[in-house]
Amino acid sequence: MSKKFYVTTPIYYVNAKPHIGHAYTTVAADVLARFHKLLGEEVFFSAGTDEHGLKIQQKAAEAGKQPREFADEISGQFKDLWEKLNIKYSDFIRTTDDKHKAAVQVVLQKLFDKGAIYKGTYKGLYCVGCEQFLNEKDLIEGKCPDHDKKPEVVEEEAYLLKLAAIQDELIKRIKSKEFHITPQRYENEVLSLLEGEGLRDVSVSRKNVSWGIPLPFDAEHTTYVWVDAFLNYLTVLGWGGEEKSSKFWPADVSLIGKDILRVHATIWPAILLHLGLPLPKQLVVHGHILSDGKKMSKTLGNAISIDEMLEKFGVDGTRYLLMSAGAFGEDVDVTMEILVERYNAQLANNLGNLVSRVIKINEGIGAKNEAKKINWEEEGKRLADFQFNDFLDGVFKKVNEANKKIEETKLWELVKADEDKAKEILESLLGVLSEISELLELFLPETSEKIKKILETNKAEILFPRIK
Ligand code: MSP
Repeated sequence: MSKKFYVTTPIYYVNAKPHIGHAYTTVAADVLARFHKLLGEEVFFSAGTDEHGLKIQQKAAEAGKQPREFADEISGQFKDLWEKLNIKYSDFIRTTDDKHKAAVQVVLQKLFDKGAIYKGTYKGLYCVGCEQFLNEKDLIEGKCPDHDKKPEVVEEEAYLLKLAAIQDELIKRIKSKEFHITPQRYENEVLSLLEGEGLRDVSVSRKNVSWGIPLPFDAEHTTYVWVDAFLNYLTVLGWGGEEKSSKFWPADVSLIGKDILRVHATIWPAILLHLGLPLPKQLVVHGHILSDGKKMSKTLGNAISIDEMLEKFGVDGTRYLLMSAGAFGEDVDVTMEILVERYNAQLANNLGNLVSRVIKINEGIGAKNEAKKINWEEEGKRLADFQFNDFLDGVFKKVNEANKKIEETKLWELVKADEDKAKEILESLLGVLSEISELLELFLPETSEKIKKILETNKAEILFPRIK
């Protein structure tokens, strides 16, 4: 049997329409899924939307809609966007799907029967924006730093999930890298939390949030959004709560943003440990996309819209700009000016010119080159650390070198002066183009196809129109 590869993306809240931060993670997952398919592995790539909870209940009310109707609309927008961005996910899960809800109830009942969930009271500071309980020390001037809002003090009867009980096991799994958190500094962050203040049991139910999945053993309560949400990683595989999980579980790579690391590194593994299921092999944590050095927000008016990107740069242009923006684990700062500049420099000029010049100079010469076969095992080493930008930089360095060669040899004159010599150079340049088209397949699938076609027919077309 061939090796399997399971990559997960966070399921996005349907409180507002998709933005470039969501596209960032999902394009990265798409690149990984394409890569593992090329290696001949059996790949599952999950996508979906997280639809319950107070935040969505409130947003729907503001819009004068029923939560389900509101969720349908926005979930649909995510699906449409993935289609536009050429995202080839294996399945799309909605937490409002019946089969998901049923599985969540099976799991809750199991955890309750095992004593991993018990009734108590819970007091905490709840940030609706995060849909998370925060600690006093997370706050800046009493406010949640991510949402710039005072959290609510919640004190209510609640069901709690035992976290303290699994703490030692969790530390062991993290240190042995069985549950591998990367980049390293994020692992350090989690370990310092576990070994410092330690875990306390957490509330997994809300009493006054009607838009959620009811606890099967106490219908007055609905389950906490995160318990509902995490289980998507299993239910998307068709799992219904059975003892054995699916053949794709555990996930090989779970991509997450840094703001959802803590819950993914505590509540989620706790649920799995209580159920006796394997933990995801690797949490790959990425930073945030900032705009002009600040978190993108409607109030600041600095948000870059994904629709605007698609309109300006096209599908592959957008995929390229997102994946080349910076190191995956770090925050990366973008502005529309920077994006336009990079698009023009790398795609319109560097790559676009290379293709059109080589094809044009080759008119009447007819140099040919065998299509290059890529050794993906070898190339993929550069993807092992999830440094997508380095991989792309490597490809565009090749493009640049090829352009330089044309300049240095004054190839457009050489074809007249010494046709044999020019033909030799053209052959090697066609070889480079063929290699580039292969290497771009993961990131810029349409462009890769176009270049292959151009090489076959020797007819150039404009790949990326310059933006003024
Ligand atoms: N619904 C939860 C996730 C549940 S997963 C079991 C959630 N949703 S979210 O829509 O708020 O955010 C989802 C992801 O988008 C997170 O990984 C978050 O880090 C990411 N991003 C949100 N804004 C972002 C940027 N500006 N830049 C990069 N990623 C960002 O949390």
